Amino acid sequence: MKQIFFNKEKINTFHKTIHVTGDKSLSVRWVLFSSLANGKSKAYNLLRSEDVLAVIKTIKKFGIKVNLKKDYCEIIGNGLFGYKYKKNIVINAENSGTLGRLILGILIDTKYPIKLIGDNSLSKRDFKRVTDPLSQFGGIYKLKNKKNLPLILTGTKNPKPINYFEKKGSAQCKSSVIFAALKTKGTTTIKAKKSRNHTELLCKHLKLPITVTRKKNTDLIKIKKTTSIKPLNYKIPSDISSASFFIVLTLLSVNSSITIKNVNINPTRIGMIIILNKMGAKIVFKNKRKYKGEDIADIFVKSSKKLKSINCPSKLNSGAIDEFLLIFLVAAKSKGISYFKNLGELNQKESPRLKWGAKILNKMGFKTELTDETIKIHGNPDLDLNNKKILIKKFLKDHRVFMTSVIASMTFGGEWQIHDKDSINTSFPEFLDVIRNIKK
Ligand code: S3P
Repeated sequence: MKQIFFNKEKINTFHKTIHVTGDKSLSVRWVLFSSLANGKSKAYNLLRSEDVLAVIKTIKKFGIKVNLKKDYCEIIGNGLFGYKYKKNIVINAENSGTLGRLILGILIDTKYPIKLIGDNSLSKRDFKRVTDPLSQFGGIYKLKNKKNLPLILTGTKNPKPINYFEKKGSAQCKSSVIFAALKTKGTTTIKAKKSRNHTELLCKHLKLPITVTRKKNTDLIKIKKTTSIKPLNYKIPSDISSASFFIVLTLLSVNSSITIKNVNINPTRIGMIIILNKMGAKIVFKNKRKYKGEDIADIFVKSSKKLKSINCPSKLNSGAIDEFLLIFLVAAKSKGISYFKNLGELNQKESPRLKWGAKILNKMGFKTELTDETIKIHGNPDLDLNNKKILIKKFLKDHRVFMTSVIASMTFGGEWQIHDKDSINTSFPEFLDVIRNIKK
C-alpha cells in the first residue's frame, strides 16, 4: 500500500446509505471474554483490524483455539483459569492500548513471568495507570522508565480483591481491574469516573456477579468471586468511532446526507453526537433497538449550513474521547470561538492528539490557543483553502490523525499530502473503500 494519501478535490454532493466495520472496543472484549469462557463462542461482524488480530494472536499464545472464518469467528475457551502458562512468553500488543491494558488484568495469575511489548507509539504510552491497581491484587511489574513498555509481569497464585478509585475516566484501566477481579476469591470495589461501559454490560449479559450503581459522575462497581464464564455468541454492531468520520464528512459537505446502518449508540459513546447537535447539527437516531445490553440504531445526518461555536461541558469529554479531532474540524467551520477543557487525556492517546488537533488546524490557517489541557478554536466558516498546500507528515502511528486529515481534505479544499496511510489498518482497514463508495 502506498503510504501517502493525496487529495485536492472537495467532495461533491452525495446521498448514501453505508455500513462501517464492527465496534473495536466490543470486538476486543468479545475475544477476551470468549477466551475465558467454557466452550465455543461465535461472533459475526468481528472487526478484522490489526488491533483485534493482535488480541487473537495473544490468546493463541495461551493455548486458546480460534477459527477465523470469512463470515464469523469461533473461539474455544478453556475456562476462566484455563490459560496455559509457559516459560518465556512474549506478547505484542502492537498499537493497541486496549489489548495491552486489558490483557494485564487477565494475566494477574500467570505462573511464569510474561513480557509485554508494543510498537513505538504504544511504547511511549502510560502503563503505570494500570500496573498500579494491578499491583494491589498482588502482581509485580517491571516497567521501562517505571511507566512504559516493555514491561515484565510476575503474577500471583492468589490475587487479592481490592478497592480502587479510577479517576481518569479510562475504560481501559477500569476493564483491566474488572478482569483481574474476576479471578479473586472476594469482592472488588471500583469507584470509577464515567467511561465506556462495554465490559460491565458484557459481564451483566453473561450473568457474572457484578453490580453497577450509577452516581452523578462516577459508577460504583462491585465484582464478586466468579467461577466460570458461559460462551458468548454475538453479532458485533458497527463502531460509532468509525461512523463519526462520515458523520462529519456529511455535516461539512454541501447539500448531502448519509445513513449509517446498525451502529452501537451506547450512551457512554455518543458524546460527539451530543456536542455536534449542540453546535447546530441535526444528527438523528432511527430504528433504535437493544442488543444484549447495548443500544443500536441507524444514524442519519444532513449537511449543515449553520454551525455555531461551543463552550464544551467537560462532562461530555469521556463519551467523545476518540472523536475530538473531528469535533475540532467542526469547530473550525463554525461561527465563533469554541472552547474545550480538561482534555489532558487526549495527549495520552496513540499520539498527543490535543497537540495534533491544533497542528492540523494551524496548518489549514485557523487560529488556536492551546495549553496542556485546553484548546480554543477560532472558527471561520468562510475560510477556503483554495490551492493551499498542506502536508501531514509521518509521525507516531495514529489512525485517527490520518483519517481526520482525509476528512478535512475533502471538506475544506486545499492540496493535501497525508502520510501514514497504513495506520488505518489498526482500527478501520475499509476506511478508504467507504470513501470511494461515497464518491461513486
Ligand atoms: C477504549 C478506551 C479509551 C479509548 C480507546 C478504547 C476501550 O481509552 O480511547 O480507543 O476500548 O476501553 P482510555 O481507557 O485510555 O480512555
